[in-house]
Amino acid sequence: MPETEPKDAPAKPVRAPTDQLGLVKFHIVAAIVWLGIGMLGGTLMGYRLTSPEAAEFLGDSAALSFGRIRMFHTHSVIFGWLTNGFFAFAYYAIPRLVGRDLFLPKLAKIFAPLTQVALVLGGGAILMGHAQAVEHTEAPWWADAAFAVCFVATLVSCVGTILLSGVRNLYVSAWYLILGFIFTALNFVMANSIVAFVAPGAAGAALSGLWIHNAVGLWVTPMGAAIIYYLLPVVLKKPIASHKLSLLGFWTLAFFYPLGGSHHYFYSPVPWWLQMLAVPLTFTLIFVVYSVVYNFFATMRGKWSQLASDIPLRFLAFGLFNYIVTCTQGPFHALLSVQQVVHFTDWVVAHAHLALFGVFSWWLYAFIYWIWPRITGRGYNRKLAEAHFWVTLIAFWVLYYIPDTIAGLMQGFFWLTTLPLQDSLEAAMPFWMTRAISGVFLMLSMVFLVWNLFFVKNGKVGLEVSNG
Ligand code: HEM
Ligand code: HEM
Repeated sequence: MPETEPKDAPAKPVRAPTDQLGLVKFHIVAAIVWLGIGMLGGTLMGYRLTSPEAAEFLGDSAALSFGRIRMFHTHSVIFGWLTNGFFAFAYYAIPRLVGRDLFLPKLAKIFAPLTQVALVLGGGAILMGHAQAVEHTEAPWWADAAFAVCFVATLVSCVGTILLSGVRNLYVSAWYLILGFIFTALNFVMANSIVAFVAPGAAGAALSGLWIHNAVGLWVTPMGAAIIYYLLPVVLKKPIASHKLSLLGFWTLAFFYPLGGSHHYFYSPVPWWLQMLAVPLTFTLIFVVYSVVYNFFATMRGKWSQLASDIPLRFLAFGLFNYIVTCTQGPFHALLSVQQVVHFTDWVVAHAHLALFGVFSWWLYAFIYWIWPRITGRGYNRKLAEAHFWVTLIAFWVLYYIPDTIAGLMQGFFWLTTLPLQDSLEAAMPFWMTRAISGVFLMLSMVFLVWNLFFVKNGKVGLEVSNG
């Protein structure tokens, strides 16, 4: 929490709660393992697309076919990496936000490894071909049921801690955490029951869009916002600029976000009025985005020089820059005229990576660098952390995001002509090649991270920071 509170700041926690550092560490380690596996999947998949010969290099094993690796990739990064990372953050931040020990810590400790079992079952089933046709939650129903139980157990511990604390004037991070957990439990169950088994045809597609949209907007986004609103004041040692604005952003997200899900199904059999309605509703999200952006810039006033030396702050700031780009791009590509060009192309893949990797993964990196010295009592090495940061930044932007965006635009314009599909594929090949190379560099950056966290003995950085 900030050292000097603004006038309308939330009530201070009554006492410092007991940290559950073992739990936090477990989820961070699990998250990093899943990110490594997910990146390997992404790189293999990316490489397969670079030429007809490359497409053959894994032989004709069905388990390693493009489709299965793709589902495994998104399963690993969305549930394994981001979700474990968010659990780690929630277990650390929630007790401190409300000044109460974690509710049912034993439950949390039992379900932490069980969550990994559920994820391994789901990932294994996908590779073995037992997938269900709901995008971004393709694991079969029994693996999803196991994951849902683990998720709800985590929810009970985390949201239970907040509710039982009796703190009424909650800090904005706590609001985001409550929203993220509750909406996602409902959303996940809705996707894996109604979408998977009940809703037919276009209705199923519309609800599927709602699931994807809410998974990114009401799980990943609120968790990310909770991280940035928690870490920024702590790292800068000053309060956020506007608590009121942060709450306005929160309520706008809660009200408007769920309504725009059909923007994932433009030009599909989903009713036309629903597609049209999605355009203005999508634009309202600008308020959500710019409340975070304004607060970040206003809070950073006078502190920009800290970026040079502070690794967590740098990941937060560059993640925010990516947030501005991807969320400005979002309403723009929800315009029907723009959709005619970019829909179904690599433009969308680039947008998805800029958001999920460039924003939320970087905010998680910030949290990991910040918390790790507190968990282990050991600092990290600056040169390795700098190498991680710069390789991630350059490999992602120069070799992945920009080429993929260009490939997407080219595909879109090719498809508007009468040229054969083959021409658009050939045109995209060089860009897909740089994307595959970026995968190799991004995995190298992971080596720097892992080396720094687990094998550096005498690191000094990170130990001097104040207690959050
Ligand atoms: C080494 C790094 C990575 C590489 C090389 C990579 C590569 C890829 C490739 C080739 C695809 C399939 C694109 C297609 O179907 O045309 C894909 C899809 C996807 N990846 Fe990654 N990826 C990486 C890391 C990540 C990370 C860290 C995340 C999230 C945190 C992520 C999230 C996604 C998502 C959500 C999709 C589906 C996108 C869509 O349907 O539009 N990826 N990735
Ligand atoms: C105001 C901000 C944003 C707006 C208006 C927006 C809008 C959109 C739209 C219209 C699409 C569909 C594009 C198409 O299929 O042609 C899309 C796709 C996508 N967006 Fe965003 N977006 C925003 C921010 C984000 C954020 C913050 C995330 C991640 C947390 C995200 C993740 C994704 C993903 C993963 C897809 C691909 C979904 C799929 O595989 O079908 N977006 N976005």
